Amino acid sequence: MSGELEFRPKMLGIVCNWCCYGGADLCGVSRFQYPPFIRLVRVMCSGRVDLLHILRALSDGMDAVFVGGCHINDCHYVTEGNYDAIAMIEVCREILRRIGIRPERVRLEWVSAGEGIRFAAIMNEYAAQVQKLGPLGRADGEGLDAAELARRLEAATRLVPFARLALTGRLRPAVRTEEAYRRFFAGEEFRRLFDELLGDRLAISRVLLALREGPRTAADLARDLGWSASDVARHVRNSTRHGWIRFDAARGCYALAGG
Ligand code: FES
Repeated sequence: MSGELEFRPKMLGIVCNWCCYGGADLCGVSRFQYPPFIRLVRVMCSGRVDLLHILRALSDGMDAVFVGGCHINDCHYVTEGNYDAIAMIEVCREILRRIGIRPERVRLEWVSAGEGIRFAAIMNEYAAQVQKLGPLGRADGEGLDAAELARRLEAATRLVPFARLALTGRLRPAVRTEEAYRRFFAGEEFRRLFDELLGDRLAISRVLLALREGPRTAADLARDLGWSASDVARHVRNSTRHGWIRFDAARGCYALAGG
């Protein structure tokens, strides 16, 4: 058996009490099999799952996180939490994409309490997908060592308060239909708003965390952060303007303002 097939990912499933957990329960009672390395946590509604829960799970060693809720229009709360779950997951996936982590490491699905076989099918399919990706940080397109992975997840975690604010404001469509949500988050308008509301903050966090390791030249930052020279110039200019970093002209490098 190849090493790839032997990889047993650590996977967390956060599932709503009223539907997806019921589906998981029925799956067990019906003796449908799914991989034992997926651990489930029950919450009252998928809308209660926060960005911080997902980023912390990844920071603490999970290779992937699954969120399961009731089908659209079946949420048991008037707030229709599963719409909030769509928005949060899409923002989370965009953050992961921008820090060089494959967005497939987070997945959202709807499963009713009567869909035990659907729950098993989704779990088996997702587990196989994550096994193919490999450990967090090691998939094609990731290539991150443990220290760089931790730094990038810390930068993402620092963004959480701003992302929560954006999610209650402009970073969601006005119309509450699944089609409107899917279209909005797949479109250019979402990416433009993300850049405007969160993109620069995320980039500045990454600059600050890179400089926490010690002074860096612009070329070092471009290499470490995987950015173009113009992106580095823009983000160090922003960080300098805010007084968070300074340019050490004698050494030709950037450093934290207090360092
Ligand atoms: Fe299940 Fe809200 S109660 S998604």
